[in-house]
Amino acid sequence: MSKSGLDKVNQIICGDCLEVLKTLPDNSVDLVVTSPPYNLGNDHHTGNIKHKTYDDNLPEAEYQKQQVEVLTEIFRILKDTGSVMYNHKNRIKEGKQITPYEWLLKTPFTIKQELVWFNGSQNFDKIRFYPMTERVYWLAKSPKTKLDNTINHHDLFKWTAVGTSGEHKRAFPESMVADFLAVFPDAKVVLDPYMGSGTTAKVAKEMGRQYIGIELNPKFIAMAEQKLRQEVLL
Ligand SMILES: C[S@@+](CC[C@H](N)C(=O)[O-])C[C@H]1O[C@@H](n2cnc3c(N)ncnc32)[C@H](O)[C@@H]1O
Repeated sequence: MSKSGLDKVNQIICGDCLEVLKTLPDNSVDLVVTSPPYNLGNDHHTGNIKHKTYDDNLPEAEYQKQQVEVLTEIFRILKDTGSVMYNHKNRIKEGKQITPYEWLLKTPFTIKQELVWFNGSQNFDKIRFYPMTERVYWLAKSPKTKLDNTINHHDLFKWTAVGTSGEHKRAFPESMVADFLAVFPDAKVVLDPYMGSGTTAKVAKEMGRQYIGIELNPKFIAMAEQKLRQEVLL
């Protein structure tokens, strides 16, 4: 067991993140970088539908309740100095925009900052302005939490989106994770409770940090483990 009480570092754990998070000790993680499923319907995105192991089409109220539960558990396991970088977006459902603030404000977190990611996504539906941005919410346990902006960046990012042709269609860019790790140089233990193809773990390892991943789909875990092995061979 390490000093933080964590005995699960440098592992990807297969399971439902809410259940796995409950097994992690209080105040043990420095940084969370994550992107949950967006609940946009089972046919919409997120990986290979054949291997889908969760429902991406929950009633919206149930989805938001689940996100509040997961974020509240993350609050417990995060160190007092820790931060969460939570990637989500404004979704349009039944003609109405749903903003992540609807559930973020129900969590115990302080919202430190909202970052805009211009990802140039290809939605040219002419009934509205083309939606081409996602968000990353910087959440912290304390309003006093700071980051170290050594990359001299403003709050609009243009990380190149990973194409959707790969097997995991919702991977976020490695450069996004690298920027976050750069501004939290003291973050030793980095968690991604929706690990997908392992982007957070791969970059954390490359940048000399410890990682913990949680992922429901064993197929994605195999992809992540392959990525981590390749990195060792470089
Ligand atoms: C948007 S993707 C994350 C992609 C990841 N950032 C990457 O770079 O590959 C969301 C992931 O969460 C996983 N997932 C969905 N529900 C989950 C749950 N309850 N617990 C753990 N993982 C879950 C999905 O299988 C999917 O791989």
